[in-house]
Amino acid sequence: MRAIRHSLMVEPAGVDDIPSIMAIERMPGYSELVGCYEAGEHLRRMAAPTCTYLLGRDAGEVVGFAVVRRDDDGMGTAQLHRIAVSSPGNGYGLAFMQEICRWVFEEHDIDRLWLDVLASNQRAVCLYAALGFVKEGVMRESLRLGEGRHDLVLMSLLRRDWTQQSN
Ligand SMILES: CC(C)(COP(=O)(O)OP(=O)(O)OC[C@H]1O[C@@H](n2cnc3c(N)ncnc32)[C@H](O)[C@@H]1OP(=O)(O)O)[C@@H](O)C(=O)NCCC(=O)NCCS
Repeated sequence: MRAIRHSLMVEPAGVDDIPSIMAIERMPGYSELVGCYEAGEHLRRMAAPTCTYLLGRDAGEVVGFAVVRRDDDGMGTAQLHRIAVSSPGNGYGLAFMQEICRWVFEEHDIDRLWLDVLASNQRAVCLYAALGFVKEGVMRESLRLGEGRHDLVLMSLLRRDWTQQSN
């Protein structure tokens, strides 16, 4: 696994954190990569029992947010639904994802963390691969953006992958 440059605190986000989250998702170029909600939609999603918003903090400052959504079929799986950092390319993504994986596998009864990512989002694909996520295939043209349709790459990290590389 790559060296982690930052030591981030990860904590569940609350309603008061919605403005910080909205500021990050509105950064230039982010809306196509991670989506963009109004405050009411964040509130609705935060209230869902299967959904946890997480914040990454560096020395108290919010440097990223993520949403982990537990699948409600009782299979012990969860989706990393969204992740974005405020200062891309500076190692925060790797540090934040590392802590998210720790939170998922060490603090929750989740055996498989999966995600989908735009095939063209190489920065994100490389980040997930660096953490041990395995590509499982391509969901062809499953995302509609404007007029176009785009492939999504399906990736997952299993509890046993995580345990092996943490030891
Ligand atoms: C994707 C995202 C979370 C990654 O976080 P980050 O802080 O930019 O990534 P890091 O600096 O920690 O880099 C982690 C790894 O990603 C890869 N990477 C970083 N920048 C890259 C680039 N421009 N192109 C390809 N790979 C890149 C490298 O493998 C890097 O590891 P290294 O530093 O050892 O080389 C962040 O860029 C972001 O918020 N992007 C916009 C929203 C988004 O795309 N979210 C993901 C949706 S699925």
